[in-house]
Amino acid sequence: MTETCNSHLTRRRFGQGALAMGAAVALPGWLRASDGAVPANLNISAGDSLRAHAAARGLLYGVAVNPALLDVDGFSAGATSDGYTRLVAEQANIVVAENAMKWAGLRPSAGSFDFSQADRLMRFAQLAGQRLRGHNLCWHEGLPAWFKTTATKDNARLLLTQHIQTVAGHYRGQIHSWDVVNEAVEPADGRPDGLRKSPWLELIGPEYIELAFQTAAAADPQAKLTYNDYGIELDTPEQADKRGQVLLLLRRFKARGVPIHAMGVQSHLQADGPQPGAGLQSFIRECAKLDLEVYVTEMDVNTHSLADGPEAQDAAVAATYRKYLDMVLVEPNVPVVLTWGITSAHSWINQSNEPWARRKDGARQRPLPFDDNLKPTPAFLALREAIDAGRPVRG
Ligand code: G3I
Repeated sequence: MTETCNSHLTRRRFGQGALAMGAAVALPGWLRASDGAVPANLNISAGDSLRAHAAARGLLYGVAVNPALLDVDGFSAGATSDGYTRLVAEQANIVVAENAMKWAGLRPSAGSFDFSQADRLMRFAQLAGQRLRGHNLCWHEGLPAWFKTTATKDNARLLLTQHIQTVAGHYRGQIHSWDVVNEAVEPADGRPDGLRKSPWLELIGPEYIELAFQTAAAADPQAKLTYNDYGIELDTPEQADKRGQVLLLLRRFKARGVPIHAMGVQSHLQADGPQPGAGLQSFIRECAKLDLEVYVTEMDVNTHSLADGPEAQDAAVAATYRKYLDMVLVEPNVPVVLTWGITSAHSWINQSNEPWARRKDGARQRPLPFDDNLKPTPAFLALREAIDAGRPVRG
């Protein structure tokens, strides 16, 4: 019942453009390919952190986190020496569990919940003065092995509502926003409504989406409820079509009074090939007309098809961050930006052997603001400069 995560990931995550050798990225004047390095004495802490620059402008910048890697007790005692823990605390004012709050992370069996890892992250966020995003309450991936042999048309509605009531209820009043439903739109599946032929659709019908949102709203009236998706960032016919279908879904929600507050644009970008542009800007403005905020929820930049070496790779990643955020942060309804991880050492891209993840030179990718050794990359600079350029400092 559950699709394997990587079976069609190429089509899903990076579109056709990513597989074509794209034109070289035009680098901004402040960063040339030869400047792929970051000044050795760059200050990144306290007032120079991404967190501080975002907060000064009323923005939230954050990262996806693996709670198992956090030294929560050490941090609590004010004595952690763990670099990853310190970096997450120092650089983010919002965090999200990369996997710990998915069904597979919470549901060891059909009759039980295990909040241990998710609670670790909640505790850490409280200690670090961070907001917490919930990801996610309903998705066709990240499902536990028992799901496909347990879920039926007769019990799926109860399975879904009990899960949401229990999980969103467990964190009631403590969640900034929930990705209530993730990736429900897939025009390539050929339905007139553009919905993905997911297990939830097959078991419950298209109403599963509204059911999830209504249940989440009742379980946690304070959380902002988000629909999250990918493949809507680029100016390509395929992604323009998907943006259109997502907008129709959002408009149907609003027309029916479905409790939804934000659209999550995952923003898994590529350093070359087709790029985001007017289509995404227009989409964000249409969301504003629907009184929806837009969150950049999972940003990273893939360089698998870039032929150049590490400096040019870094420069291309930085230029992509800057260009994208310059475009989205000028929109007043974009208050949140998260990257899908903080260091390439734990990036999902470097954990995959799929063609869309492997560079021809065999080098590990550097898609995030910190590298494998927790050193700032040019993307760190690009992120900080884009945050500064995107919003005035709040008085
Ligand atoms: O925890 C198990 C472990 O016990 C087991 O030994 C191991 C080998 O089978 O698998 C581990 O689970 C893996 C999990 O990550 C935790 O590492 C899953 O197999 C693996 O499929 C899962 O991949 C995650 C993927 O979502 C699917 O849930 C990636 O880390 C995560 O970065 C990725 O994130 C998604 C977002 O949730 C939604 N948007 C797209 C994004 C990238 O695909």
